[in-house]
Amino acid sequence: MTHCDTIIDLLLEARGEPVSGSTLGRRLGISRTAVWKNIQTLRSEGYEITVVKGRGYVLRSVSPSPVSREVLRGLDTVWLGRDIFYFKQADSTNRAAKELARKGAKHGSIVVAEVQTHGRGRLGRSWESAPGGVYMSIILRPDMHPAQVTLLTLLAGVAVIRGIKRACNVEVGLKWPNDIMVSDCKLGGVLCEMEGESEHVDFVVIGIGVDVNCEASVGIPTTSLRAESGGYVSITGIIQAVLEEFEMLYTEFQIEPAGFLPEYKKYCLTLGHMVSAQGHRRSVTGRAVDISPGGGLMVEGKSGRVEEVVSGEIIHLR
Ligand code: BTN
Repeated sequence: MTHCDTIIDLLLEARGEPVSGSTLGRRLGISRTAVWKNIQTLRSEGYEITVVKGRGYVLRSVSPSPVSREVLRGLDTVWLGRDIFYFKQADSTNRAAKELARKGAKHGSIVVAEVQTHGRGRLGRSWESAPGGVYMSIILRPDMHPAQVTLLTLLAGVAVIRGIKRACNVEVGLKWPNDIMVSDCKLGGVLCEMEGESEHVDFVVIGIGVDVNCEASVGIPTTSLRAESGGYVSITGIIQAVLEEFEMLYTEFQIEPAGFLPEYKKYCLTLGHMVSAQGHRRSVTGRAVDISPGGGLMVEGKSGRVEEVVSGEIIHLR
């Protein structure tokens, strides 16, 4: 716990009553000047702390940004998100997470940014990352075969759906493999990247982007949780709920990797749709009928033949 964390705790305990600089200093074993410097740090992170003349500091509101101390406060996980690399601005949290993982960042570390300058989407696309969204990457060091990583990305989609429902009661669905959707509008996505060898996974980075309070992008059918729920939604609350759900799902995944698939199918808006799937070498058109045990999309063509699509882009036709 840092001095800043303790100051927030003491100010919260005071429930809006002023706490003097000397009281804070005594409790922390630091000078009043050092208390002042910590207050300045907290203000720069977005905490609203005012001074009542002659009486002390009052905490008016906690930071609305997903600063690490706010994410950790009340985060109910054992190993996920206990190490947070927080950036006011990053080029891409996935890129930063890969670099940190190469340098030895622990299993379960997360990277969070308030804004990304070069956010990345699937299939080489860019990801618009204005203030007001969740931009987060999870670093995992799973003991699994690379082929299982596809399932892990689907699992992340389920964690996001559950987390959103719990944090702000908005019902969302998944377009295969893991576009987060409200009806036809895209709300978020998951970008999973891996490093390792053919039989061994060194680390996996699961990047999650969700439009929480951003303005709608002109001309693109996107939405935000704010638009869907009709009010401001806490970014920190979404991050915490998603991490808690992910940790639970991941623990079960290690015992039974495909155990979450029935739930995934329940959320999967693609099933039952006519789709066109653009593979690397060819395209498949037909009705999406199932998800394979490995996480692929099973598409039944006109002839009745069912083919598995394992990657690439799909379009919902009707
Ligand atoms: C998609 O194309 O649907 C996936 C989008 C994933 C965006 C997230 S935002 C956090 C993380 N960092 C990135 O650069 N991309 C992912």
